[in-house]
Amino acid sequence: MKIITAQAPVNIAVIKYWGKKDENLIIPLNDSISGTLSMEHLCATTSIAFSNEFDSNRMWLNNVEVKIEDNKRLVRCIENVRKLAESTIGWPSDHHIRICSKNNFPTAAGLASSAAGYACLCYALCKLFEINDPKIISSLARLGSGSACRSIYGGIVRWIAGYDHQTSIARQVITENEWPEIRILVCVVNDHRKDTSSTFGMQLSCQTSPLIKYRAEHVVLEHCDQITKAIMERNFEKFAEITMKDSNQFHAICQDTYPPIRYMNDISWSIVNLIHFINNLFGYNVACYTFDAGPNACIYCLDNNVPILIKSIRRMFQKSDGTELAINGITYQTDQINIDQ
Ligand code: ADP
Ligand code: DP6
Ligand code: CO
Repeated sequence: MKIITAQAPVNIAVIKYWGKKDENLIIPLNDSISGTLSMEHLCATTSIAFSNEFDSNRMWLNNVEVKIEDNKRLVRCIENVRKLAESTIGWPSDHHIRICSKNNFPTAAGLASSAAGYACLCYALCKLFEINDPKIISSLARLGSGSACRSIYGGIVRWIAGYDHQTSIARQVITENEWPEIRILVCVVNDHRKDTSSTFGMQLSCQTSPLIKYRAEHVVLEHCDQITKAIMERNFEKFAEITMKDSNQFHAICQDTYPPIRYMNDISWSIVNLIHFINNLFGYNVACYTFDAGPNACIYCLDNNVPILIKSIRRMFQKSDGTELAINGITYQTDQINIDQ
């Protein structure tokens, strides 16, 4: 029996992916850009055992069995690895796998569990069969969940939309060591599974929102160019402005969807207001917020401002009896590293 264990971190988009040109190959409507967290915080851990003692492929996620055959993305990732393994060590037909994966953060709550989960699964599967090319692993991860292709790389990563399997690829913009002062505070507002999955939410937006087309044609590339320039110049002020505008436009598309989708809640909105209040007080952008498909806030800032931000958030969300926080957990990255075994 061969056993492999891997970990992969989440990534938090500053330019959001929302909508597909091709549902099957997961080719997005537009480019997206994200920061990959360091492993010691939000990550998926996946172990895979490979043996001729197993009579079928089975998987458990957070201790609950998931039927692989009911999830076409899982099937596709496994089948693609099986084909690729033909040119490495091979996958004998009498051998099967057992997959066990756990997230150390809320699953399906808008904190990119699908990104960490599929990056981890594909990385571990590839490791098992000695497939080592990160480009191949990233493209396989994309077939599981679009955002997962970015979690294969550390630092800041751009997923170029492309038009087919070969051209839709993730590339590192800067490594985790090239902007070491950058931090992400993850504020868990609500850890419940969201009502509308990202996959279904973006399908509905593509079918019904006029704003999503406008964004893809007139806004996203400009946001990508502006934020890439800001990243290259380590210009946090501009980085923050584009990040907030992009998050706001993504949630405007959710509202423009019919029926509308509401991922952010009242606490999410009070975090938005708090960040603008702090930025106004300082006279420049100390921090910026971004929200994925869920109510939980991700706040990008520079390391010297972490203490003041945590203090402000804790004070604002402390209940009147002083005992409980509406925000359950705050973690922040110290650096970003790539996935490892
Ligand atoms: P999120 O905002 O957390 O990414 P999504 O709606 O995009 O939410 O995806 C959630 C789905 O991702 C889960 O229902 C599950 O199918 C898949 N997923 C989450 N974590 C893992 C994991 N560790 N391994 C495999 N799949 C996972
Ligand atoms: C709002 O990658 O979860 O987090 O490709 O259908 O699995 P599928 O969707 P997913 O969508 C992520 C949407 C987002 C923005 C982002 O991460 O870019
Ligand atoms: Co997701």
